[in-house]
Formats: sequence, C-alpha cells, structure tokens
Amino acid sequence: MSVEDLVHFCAPARLIMGAGARTRLPALLQRLGYQRGLIVTDRFFTLSTPWVEELVSGARAHGVTLTVYDGGAPDPTTTLCDDATAALHARGDLPLDHVIALGGGSNIDLAKALCLTLPAGAPVRTFIGRIDSATPVLPLIAMPTTAGTGSEATPGAILVDPDNATKVAVMDNRLRPAVALIDPEFTYTCPPRVTADAGIDALTHAVESYLTMDAAQFERGDDPDPGYSGRNALTMLFARESIRLCARHLRRSHATDGSAAMRDARTGMSHASVYAALSYGSAGLNAVHGIAYAVAGLTHLSHGTTNAVMLPYVLDALRDVRRDELLTIARLFDVDDVDADAAIERLPAVLRELIGALGVPITLAACGIEEGDLDTLTRDALAVTRLAKAFPVPDVDARYARIVRNAWAGRLSFDDARAAPQRRVA
Ligand SMILES: NC(=O)c1ccc[n+]([C@@H]2O[C@H](COP(=O)([O-])OP(=O)(O)OC[C@H]3O[C@@H](n4cnc5c(N)ncnc54)[C@H](O)[C@@H]3O)[C@@H](O)[C@H]2O)c1
Repeated sequence: MSVEDLVHFCAPARLIMGAGARTRLPALLQRLGYQRGLIVTDRFFTLSTPWVEELVSGARAHGVTLTVYDGGAPDPTTTLCDDATAALHARGDLPLDHVIALGGGSNIDLAKALCLTLPAGAPVRTFIGRIDSATPVLPLIAMPTTAGTGSEATPGAILVDPDNATKVAVMDNRLRPAVALIDPEFTYTCPPRVTADAGIDALTHAVESYLTMDAAQFERGDDPDPGYSGRNALTMLFARESIRLCARHLRRSHATDGSAAMRDARTGMSHASVYAALSYGSAGLNAVHGIAYAVAGLTHLSHGTTNAVMLPYVLDALRDVRRDELLTIARLFDVDDVDADAAIERLPAVLRELIGALGVPITLAACGIEEGDLDTLTRDALAVTRLAKAFPVPDVDARYARIVRNAWAGRLSFDDARAAPQRRVA
C-alpha cells in the first residue's frame, strides 16, 4: 500500500459461498421480497441435473414463482440474446422482479444481458458502449457452475457479434449481481476440459490483475463509476489469495474420480475463481487478455486456452517492472531458488509446464498460427486499447511485438539462460 493508492472497489451486493449453499436460495428470495423470477440456464442443467427442479419447487414453497429459459449456449451471441428476449416476451413470462443465472460464464453473461433487454424489450446492441443511468436493470442472482470466469462478480456481459465474429461487451456496475451464490458442488460435474480451461482463466485473472496498472495511474477518463479502475491494495489482497489457491488446487482439480481430493481441489478452485474476480473485477486486465482476444479471433480456440498460452510469455516480459510481485507469485508456486532473480526467471517456465500438463498448447505455433500472421496479430491485440493502456510498461507496442514472437517460438528467458552455457561450450 502506498500514499498514492486509490481504492475503487465494486463487488456483488451479497456473496454466499459454501458446499450445498444452493439450498439457501429459496428463503433468501423470499427475504428479498422477490415474487416472480426467471432461471436462465442451458439444457445440460434442465435435463441432467436435479438443480433446476429443486430450485423451482423450493422457491414455490416460499411463495416465489420461477419460470425457466434453458436455451443458453457456450459463447452466447447477440442474436441468441435477442431471440431469448423475444421468446420470453411472447411466452408472457413478464414482468419479472429478478433473474437467476445457473451455469458457466456463458449462461451468466446471457442472463446479465437479459436483465437489460427484458425490461426494455430492446435489442442488446442498444446497450453496447454505455448504459444510460435511467435504463432499468433487473437484479441478478448468479450461480456459477464452473470455477473460472468470475462473471458472478464483474460488471460486464460478453457476447459474440455474429456479423464479424468478435466479442462485444455490455458493461455497467449495476450489472454486478445482487447475489453471487457459489456452491462448489455445482462444479463436481464439470468435464476435465471445462474444468482446466476455467481454472486457467481464474489463474490468469488473478495474476494479470495483480500485475496490472496501479489505480493511481489508471486512465478512467471522467467516469465517476468506472467498471475497471486499476489495481489497489484491496484488489491485490484478493489476487494473492487466489494465486495461492490456484497453486495448490489447479493441477488436481481436473480429476473426475469423485474422490475427497477432487472435491477439495474443486472447492479450492471455486474460491480461487471468486477471489480472482474480486480482484480483476475492479482492477481490470491487460496484455494476456488483449493478445488472447486476437489469438481467439484467428484460431477460434477457447477463452481459457488462448489466455493460457500467452500467460508465461507476458510474465516473462514484466520482469523489469514487476519484480517484487513476480517473486511473490514464484514463492506461492513453491519456486524455491534461493536467488530471487533466478526464481523470477523460472516462474514463467513453471507456469508453462503447468499449462502444458493441463492439455493446453504452450506456443502460438502449436495453436496453428503461422509466422506470417504475427504482425497482424500484434496489431489486432494493440487495437484493444483499454487493455493495452493498462499494461504497466513504458513501451507497450514493442513489448507486445516481442511477447507475440516469443510466444510463437516458445522462447522464455529461462530457456535462453539455460541454453547459454551450452552455446558457450559448443
Ligand atoms: N462477464 C465476464 O466477466 C466474463 C469473464 C470471463 C469469461 N466470460 C465468458 O464466459 C464464457 C466461458 O464460460 P465458462 O468457461 O464458464 O464455460 P461455459 O459457460 O461456456 O460452459 C462450457 C460448457 O460447459 C458446460 N458446463 C458448465 N458447467 C458445467 C457443470 N457444472 N457440469 C457439466 N457441464 C457444465 C456448459 O453447459 C457448456 O456446454 C465465455 O463466453 C467468456 O467470454 C465472461
């Protein structure tokens, strides 16, 4: 903490975490005075789990009527949101006094967007950019079933624009959930790929926001209520705890044997994901996500995968400006070199090994990107200016270019340092 620190912190109004916490929701809905809500989910949850039916009947016993929309899908598009808005208007489900999201980041983001479009009866594009303060927003209860995106604590909903296959965001602090209910038991049914991708997403959120631009230097224009605002002592506290939990649980969390160790690891990652979101949901992100968006545009690989491949190379490029923080992360990952510089240099290689062990490609070349695409990729990444501006280095363009080339070739300083003596011998 320093005298320049500026705390801008915004979080869900209520955070409830615990195994089996879902059973507390019906009484809470009644206590909050809700009468008529909508569950937004997808067919996996209506067809393969008892959770939707349990919630509907539990709410009914507390005098709350819930209807269900189970048309959610991975990476929801603006078209899906508009179709759902029209279908729910036609079904006569309105008016509603709350929306409940059950699912991964995709269902939560769809539900967030519906909190805007259902009362307005307007297409979601109306709300991209800035949301007028007079716009009504339905309260959201978010119940994540993956441990990764942290959408249950953030101000944004991310949707795919099918016209140009890019992601667009609707963003406002009023979209942060009224209740974020984290029941780690929801994650027990996640397949290994979903668990690994989500878990790496959580780790990336924690690490990236731990290292991002300080709040005191963050450019927030004239916005008195910014969604993202740079790191401060409070966000860093959450980030550190999240990184500690990821170091302990991420590798073991994608086991599927139902054992106590698996449950322990998935519970640890559920907490890590929320803490990461309490950090990045106010501090914001930078180069890993900025470059990962451009990689996803070229390869259509998942959000978790594109972040994962970039993470070690971005950390390697921050050694001169974030030395102390990188040493803290290295120690949390049990990098035990006595010499601090050696530990900092080893950290990106340790994370790359972890990422590879989770079945994710560790170079951009292995993602199918050609060397000839690298300049365009760098340009596209730099075009996401809100993320590039938060990268805490004096020469953002040059560093992005270097990071992209290193990530393509799989080159880390640690490898170079190890190769150097051999080169000298040769
Ligand atoms: N709004 C934000 O702040 C934010 C942040 C990061 C990512 N996102 C978005 O989140 C999305 C990714 O979300 P995600 O990684 O949680 O995956 P997801 O929501 O896309 O789900 C992936 C698949 O896993 C299934 N699934 C989810 N939970 C399951 C469970 N418990 N058991 C079995 N199957 C389950 C889903 O049905 C789906 O088929 C992306 O669209 C990304 O853009 C949003």
